[in-house]
Amino acid sequence: MIDRPRVFVARVIPHDGLSRIQASTEAVVWQDDLPPPRDDLLRSIEGCDGVMTLLTDRVDAEFLDRAGPQLKVVSNYAVGFDNVDVAECTSRGIPVGNTPGVLTETTADLAFALMMAAGRRVAEGDRYVRAGRWKTWGPLLLLGPDIHGSTLGIVGFGRIGQAVARRAAGFGMAVIYHDVQQLPDEVTKPLGASFVPLDELLARSDYISLHVNLTPETRHLINAVSLARMKLTAVLVNTSRGPVVDGRALHEALRDGVIFAAGLDVTDPEPLPADDPLLTLENCLVVPHIASASRATRGKMAEMAAANLLAGVRGERLPTCVNPEVYEGAAPGTSTFG
Ligand code: DGY
Repeated sequence: MIDRPRVFVARVIPHDGLSRIQASTEAVVWQDDLPPPRDDLLRSIEGCDGVMTLLTDRVDAEFLDRAGPQLKVVSNYAVGFDNVDVAECTSRGIPVGNTPGVLTETTADLAFALMMAAGRRVAEGDRYVRAGRWKTWGPLLLLGPDIHGSTLGIVGFGRIGQAVARRAAGFGMAVIYHDVQQLPDEVTKPLGASFVPLDELLARSDYISLHVNLTPETRHLINAVSLARMKLTAVLVNTSRGPVVDGRALHEALRDGVIFAAGLDVTDPEPLPADDPLLTLENCLVVPHIASASRATRGKMAEMAAANLLAGVRGERLPTCVNPEVYEGAAPGTSTFG
């Protein structure tokens, strides 16, 4: 009998993806809800042909050394891959897979939900009612900025940023965007979106939604200086990666009324410790990195990540590969966050 490939899957993922993996490999699946501690992770990947990681698992030189030279693929169950040292994988000829496209609309839904909830004080209102503080209808009770007719600034205008812009059209919002490069008119015109420099976006927007990759250039892109450029009434939403925002600066800006409110799906660190100062603020809404968390989307991510893992262990080209340069003659990487 031919040996089946050995793989490690770093968490239980939705059934359809997992069962495909189990049907054709010797799969060890980490069963705990929490990520494998580093030592367990390194022990579990020794001798594997393929590994499926999550954004909580760091893939670096130490990881690849421990896995061993037979490792053929790292399949990341996420569109983002800032947990993976892609250059190190590439230098060893190991393809890295991600799950672009399938979570675009679901993530945009949550970005929009955070804009509405943070602006219109939905979570704060719920806490107010539950605390028994609701005594009457009040003309000045829990006022916030309108969403309809306001200006939305989108930072990072890839798939998810554009999906947020499509939703904004239904609310009659004016959309401006900033990205490292200006997109062609055929992309931006139907969305009614115009390119502006970042400082102008920060100054003009009522709502600001972040959709950039985490890179050395975007770490703390939103800091004390950029927060000070925003309107006092601005609402900031982050569904990209936590470190894109300087959490300490955001805390001070929210506390001191430099901006009106924030809605965060991602934080730095994750999870945010229960005693983090951001959690003391009524105008800071935080949810636990759930932007892609619809049943359908998590299922599609599982199928995509399984397809990448299985292609990799068979020595076939990954359907969605972030470092296609590992394949001779391939074009440089095209797969991006959102
Ligand atoms: C991703 O895929 O990168 C998200 O952050 C989690 O779905």
